[in-house]
Amino acid sequence: MIKTTLLKATEAGAKELQRFFNGDFKITNKEGINNPVTEADHAAEKAIFEIIKADFPNHFILSEEAGEIKMDSEYKWIIDPIDGTINFSNGIPICCVSIGLEHEGKIVMGAVYNPLMNEFYFAQRGFGASLNDKKISVSKKSDLLKSCLVTGFPYTYLDSKNSPLEVFERFIRKGIAVRRLGSAALDLCWTAAGRFDGFYEHSLKAWDSAAGVIILEEAGGKITGYNGKPHSVYQPDILATNGLLHEEMLGIINGNKI
Ligand code: IPD
Ligand code: CA
Ligand code: CA
Repeated sequence: MIKTTLLKATEAGAKELQRFFNGDFKITNKEGINNPVTEADHAAEKAIFEIIKADFPNHFILSEEAGEIKMDSEYKWIIDPIDGTINFSNGIPICCVSIGLEHEGKIVMGAVYNPLMNEFYFAQRGFGASLNDKKISVSKKSDLLKSCLVTGFPYTYLDSKNSPLEVFERFIRKGIAVRRLGSAALDLCWTAAGRFDGFYEHSLKAWDSAAGVIILEEAGGKITGYNGKPHSVYQPDILATNGLLHEEMLGIINGNKI
Protein backbone atom coordinates (compact mmCIF):
# COMPACT_ATOMS: atom_id res chain seq x y z
CA MET A 1 0.00 0.00 0.00
CA ILE A 2 2.70 2.49 0.96
CA LYS A 3 4.68 1.63 -2.19
CA THR A 4 1.58 2.20 -4.30
CA THR A 5 1.09 5.58 -2.68
CA LEU A 6 4.71 6.52 -3.36
CA LEU A 7 4.43 5.55 -7.03
CA LYS A 8 1.07 7.31 -7.44
CA ALA A 9 2.32 10.49 -5.77
CA THR A 10 5.46 10.55 -7.89
CA GLU A 11 3.41 10.11 -11.06
CA ALA A 12 0.96 12.83 -10.03
CA GLY A 13 3.82 15.29 -9.51
CA ALA A 14 5.42 14.31 -12.81
CA LYS A 15 2.16 14.97 -14.65
CA GLU A 16 2.40 18.59 -13.56
CA LEU A 17 6.00 18.80 -14.81
CA GLN A 18 4.86 17.58 -18.19
CA ARG A 19 1.88 19.90 -18.26
CA PHE A 20 3.99 23.01 -17.67
CA PHE A 21 7.20 22.01 -19.47
CA ASN A 22 8.04 24.44 -22.29
CA GLY A 23 4.83 26.34 -21.64
CA ASP A 24 4.10 29.59 -19.85
CA PHE A 25 4.51 29.63 -16.10
CA LYS A 26 5.24 32.17 -13.42
CA ILE A 27 8.77 32.19 -11.96
CA THR A 28 9.76 33.82 -8.68
CA ASN A 29 13.14 33.88 -6.97
CA LYS A 30 14.04 32.49 -3.55
CA GLU A 31 17.16 33.42 -1.54
CA GLY A 32 20.43 33.47 -3.57
CA ILE A 33 21.05 35.06 -6.96
CA ASN A 34 19.59 32.46 -9.26
CA ASN A 35 17.30 30.28 -7.19
CA PRO A 36 13.94 30.13 -8.92
CA VAL A 37 10.67 28.50 -7.99
CA THR A 38 8.00 28.12 -10.64
CA GLU A 39 4.27 27.68 -10.74
CA ALA A 40 5.00 24.07 -11.75
CA ASP A 41 6.93 23.39 -8.51
CA HIS A 42 3.87 24.47 -6.51
CA ALA A 43 1.45 22.54 -8.72
CA ALA A 44 3.55 19.37 -8.51
CA GLU A 45 3.85 19.70 -4.73
CA LYS A 46 0.08 20.12 -4.39
CA ALA A 47 -0.63 17.06 -6.55
CA ILE A 48 1.84 14.98 -4.52
CA PHE A 49 0.37 16.14 -1.21
CA GLU A 50 -3.16 15.25 -2.28
CA ILE A 51 -2.21 11.61 -2.88
CA ILE A 52 -0.15 11.20 0.30
CA LYS A 53 -2.62 12.96 2.56
CA ALA A 54 -5.54 10.94 1.18
CA ASP A 55 -3.78 7.63 1.94
CA PHE A 56 -1.78 8.61 5.04
CA PRO A 57 -3.23 11.73 6.67
CA ASN A 58 -1.15 11.24 9.83
CA HIS A 59 2.28 10.99 8.26
CA PHE A 60 4.96 13.70 8.64
CA ILE A 61 5.82 15.55 5.41
CA LEU A 62 8.95 17.55 4.62
CA SER A 63 8.77 19.24 1.26
CA GLU A 64 10.99 21.89 -0.34
CA GLU A 65 8.40 24.56 -1.03
CA ALA A 66 5.88 23.95 1.77
CA GLY A 67 8.40 23.12 4.49
CA GLU A 68 7.41 20.77 7.30
CA ILE A 69 3.96 19.39 7.98
CA LYS A 70 4.72 18.06 11.43
CA MET A 71 2.94 14.95 12.64
CA ASP A 72 3.70 12.54 15.42
CA SER A 73 4.45 9.68 13.04
CA GLU A 74 7.26 7.19 12.47
CA TYR A 75 6.92 7.88 8.75
CA LYS A 76 8.23 10.98 6.98
CA TRP A 77 7.81 11.76 3.29
CA ILE A 78 10.71 13.86 1.99
CA ILE A 79 9.71 15.59 -1.22
CA ASP A 80 11.34 17.66 -3.93
CA PRO A 81 8.48 18.50 -6.31
CA ILE A 82 10.97 19.48 -9.03
CA ASP A 83 14.64 18.77 -8.67
CA GLY A 84 16.43 20.67 -11.43
CA THR A 85 14.19 23.73 -11.48
CA ILE A 86 16.68 25.84 -13.46
CA ASN A 87 16.80 23.16 -16.14
CA PHE A 88 13.02 22.93 -16.07
CA SER A 89 12.53 26.65 -16.42
CA ASN A 90 14.93 26.75 -19.39
CA GLY A 91 13.27 23.86 -21.22
CA ILE A 92 16.14 21.46 -20.46
CA PRO A 93 14.61 18.01 -19.91
CA ILE A 94 16.91 17.04 -17.01
CA CYS A 95 14.62 17.43 -14.03
CA CYS A 96 12.44 15.17 -11.95
CA VAL A 97 10.12 14.55 -9.04
CA SER A 98 11.97 13.06 -6.08
CA ILE A 99 10.27 11.45 -3.09
CA GLY A 100 11.99 9.54 -0.31
CA LEU A 101 10.20 7.75 2.50
CA GLU A 102 11.78 7.67 5.94
CA HIS A 103 10.68 5.15 8.58
CA GLU A 104 11.95 5.48 12.14
CA GLY A 105 14.77 7.72 10.95
CA LYS A 106 15.91 5.49 8.06
CA ILE A 107 15.18 5.98 4.37
CA VAL A 108 13.34 2.84 3.29
CA MET A 109 12.01 3.68 -0.17
CA GLY A 110 12.65 6.22 -2.88
CA ALA A 111 11.25 7.20 -6.26
CA VAL A 112 12.72 9.61 -8.81
CA TYR A 113 10.83 10.22 -12.03
CA ASN A 114 11.89 12.27 -15.02
CA PRO A 115 8.81 12.12 -17.26
CA LEU A 116 10.54 14.13 -19.99
CA MET A 117 13.00 11.30 -20.58
CA ASN A 118 10.58 8.60 -19.48
CA GLU A 119 12.85 7.39 -16.69
CA PHE A 120 11.36 6.11 -13.44
CA TYR A 121 13.85 5.08 -10.77
CA PHE A 122 12.70 3.19 -7.69
CA ALA A 123 14.25 1.40 -4.73
CA GLN A 124 13.07 -0.29 -1.60
CA ARG A 125 15.52 -1.21 1.15
CA GLY A 126 16.67 -4.80 0.61
CA PHE A 127 15.00 -5.24 -2.78
CA GLY A 128 17.46 -3.59 -5.19
CA ALA A 129 17.02 -0.58 -7.43
CA SER A 130 15.33 -0.30 -10.79
CA LEU A 131 14.97 1.98 -13.79
CA ASN A 132 11.63 1.47 -15.54
CA ASP A 133 11.28 -1.87 -13.67
CA LYS A 134 14.66 -3.20 -14.82
CA LYS A 135 17.36 -3.81 -12.17
CA ILE A 136 20.23 -1.35 -12.22
CA SER A 137 23.67 -1.46 -10.69
CA VAL A 138 26.63 0.84 -10.30
CA SER A 139 29.63 0.80 -12.66
CA LYS A 140 32.72 -1.34 -12.12
CA LYS A 141 35.27 1.29 -13.03
CA SER A 142 38.22 1.45 -10.66
CA ASP A 143 40.57 3.81 -12.52
CA LEU A 144 39.74 7.33 -11.39
CA LEU A 145 41.61 8.90 -14.31
CA LYS A 146 39.27 7.14 -16.73
CA SER A 147 36.11 7.77 -14.73
CA CYS A 148 33.15 10.00 -15.51
CA LEU A 149 32.03 11.98 -12.47
CA VAL A 150 29.24 14.44 -11.76
CA THR A 151 28.84 17.28 -9.30
CA GLY A 152 26.72 20.32 -8.58
CA PHE A 153 27.22 23.80 -7.16
CA PRO A 154 25.16 25.58 -4.52
CA TYR A 155 23.02 28.62 -5.37
CA THR A 156 25.01 30.67 -2.88
CA TYR A 157 28.73 30.06 -3.43
CA LEU A 158 30.73 28.61 -0.54
CA ASP A 159 34.11 30.26 -0.16
CA SER A 160 35.57 27.73 2.26
CA LYS A 161 38.64 25.52 2.31
CA ASN A 162 38.20 22.73 -0.26
CA SER A 163 35.45 24.80 -1.85
CA PRO A 164 33.36 23.45 -4.74
CA LEU A 165 35.56 25.15 -7.34
CA GLU A 166 38.82 24.02 -5.71
CA VAL A 167 37.69 20.40 -5.68
CA PHE A 168 36.36 20.69 -9.23
CA GLU A 169 39.71 22.14 -10.32
CA ARG A 170 41.65 19.22 -8.80
CA PHE A 171 39.70 16.73 -10.90
CA ILE A 172 39.64 18.86 -14.06
CA ARG A 173 43.40 19.61 -13.98
CA LYS A 174 43.99 15.86 -14.26
CA GLY A 175 41.72 15.65 -17.30
CA ILE A 176 39.02 13.67 -15.48
CA ALA A 177 35.55 14.06 -17.00
CA VAL A 178 33.30 15.87 -14.51
CA ARG A 179 29.76 16.71 -15.60
CA ARG A 180 27.19 19.05 -14.06
CA LEU A 181 23.60 17.99 -14.77
CA GLY A 182 21.77 20.42 -12.47
CA SER A 183 19.68 17.83 -10.63
CA ALA A 184 21.19 16.13 -7.60
CA ALA A 185 18.46 13.47 -7.53
CA LEU A 186 19.27 12.52 -11.13
CA ASP A 187 23.01 12.70 -10.43
CA LEU A 188 22.48 10.00 -7.80
CA CYS A 189 20.22 7.91 -10.06
CA TRP A 190 22.55 8.15 -13.05
CA THR A 191 25.39 7.02 -10.78
CA ALA A 192 23.15 4.16 -9.59
CA ALA A 193 22.57 3.20 -13.23
CA GLY A 194 26.33 3.14 -13.94
CA ARG A 195 26.36 6.19 -16.24
CA PHE A 196 28.52 8.07 -13.77
CA ASP A 197 31.12 6.46 -11.52
CA GLY A 198 30.85 8.99 -8.72
CA PHE A 199 28.94 12.05 -7.53
CA TYR A 200 29.86 14.63 -4.91
CA GLU A 201 28.27 17.86 -3.82
CA HIS A 202 29.04 20.25 -0.96
CA SER A 203 25.66 21.53 0.06
CA LEU A 204 22.43 19.63 -0.43
CA LYS A 205 19.14 19.53 1.43
CA ALA A 206 17.30 16.40 2.54
CA TRP A 207 14.78 16.68 -0.32
CA ASP A 208 17.57 16.69 -2.93
CA SER A 209 19.04 13.40 -1.80
CA ALA A 210 16.43 11.39 0.19
CA ALA A 211 15.21 9.28 -2.74
CA GLY A 212 18.50 9.16 -4.64
CA VAL A 213 20.55 7.81 -1.75
CA ILE A 214 18.51 4.64 -1.35
CA ILE A 215 18.43 4.13 -5.13
CA LEU A 216 22.23 4.41 -5.23
CA GLU A 217 22.75 2.14 -2.21
CA GLU A 218 20.36 -0.49 -3.50
CA ALA A 219 22.24 -0.40 -6.83
CA GLY A 220 25.37 -1.41 -4.92
CA GLY A 221 26.92 2.04 -4.46
CA LYS A 222 28.52 3.62 -1.43
CA ILE A 223 27.57 6.91 0.25
CA THR A 224 29.34 8.85 2.96
CA GLY A 225 29.80 12.43 4.04
CA TYR A 226 33.05 14.21 3.21
CA ASN A 227 34.43 12.88 6.52
CA GLY A 228 34.04 9.30 5.29
CA LYS A 229 31.40 8.57 7.96
CA PRO A 230 27.89 7.26 7.26
CA HIS A 231 25.78 9.81 5.43
CA SER A 232 22.61 11.40 6.70
CA VAL A 233 20.27 13.22 4.32
CA TYR A 234 20.21 16.05 6.90
CA GLN A 235 23.90 16.86 6.41
CA PRO A 236 24.93 19.06 3.45
CA ASP A 237 27.88 17.17 1.94
CA ILE A 238 27.65 13.90 0.07
CA LEU A 239 29.99 11.53 -1.74
CA ALA A 240 28.23 8.75 -3.66
CA THR A 241 30.27 6.35 -5.76
CA ASN A 242 30.41 2.86 -7.23
CA GLY A 243 32.40 1.94 -4.10
CA LEU A 244 35.64 1.32 -6.00
CA LEU A 245 36.54 5.01 -6.36
CA HIS A 246 35.30 6.08 -2.95
CA GLU A 247 38.50 6.36 -0.91
CA GLU A 248 40.44 8.06 -3.69
CA MET A 249 37.69 10.61 -4.30
CA LEU A 250 37.37 11.23 -0.57
CA GLY A 251 41.07 12.07 -0.38
CA ILE A 252 40.85 14.50 -3.29
CA ILE A 253 37.79 16.23 -1.89
CA ASN A 254 39.70 16.71 1.37
CA GLY A 255 42.81 18.21 -0.22
CA ASN A 256 44.94 15.43 -1.71
CA LYS A 257 46.48 16.21 -5.07
CA ILE A 258 45.91 13.51 -7.69
C1 IPD B 1 19.13 21.88 -6.93
C2 IPD B 1 19.66 20.80 -7.84
C3 IPD B 1 21.10 21.07 -8.20
C4 IPD B 1 21.98 21.23 -6.98
C5 IPD B 1 21.42 22.29 -6.05
C6 IPD B 1 19.96 21.95 -5.69
P1 IPD B 1 16.50 22.46 -7.14
O1 IPD B 1 17.79 21.61 -6.56
O2 IPD B 1 19.58 19.53 -7.24
O3 IPD B 1 21.66 20.02 -8.96
O4 IPD B 1 23.26 21.58 -7.40
O5 IPD B 1 22.22 22.31 -4.89
O6 IPD B 1 19.46 22.96 -4.84
O7 IPD B 1 16.67 23.85 -6.61
O8 IPD B 1 16.55 22.39 -8.61
O9 IPD B 1 15.38 21.72 -6.51
CA1 CA C 1 16.41 20.06 -5.30
CA1 CA D 1 13.22 21.76 -6.05
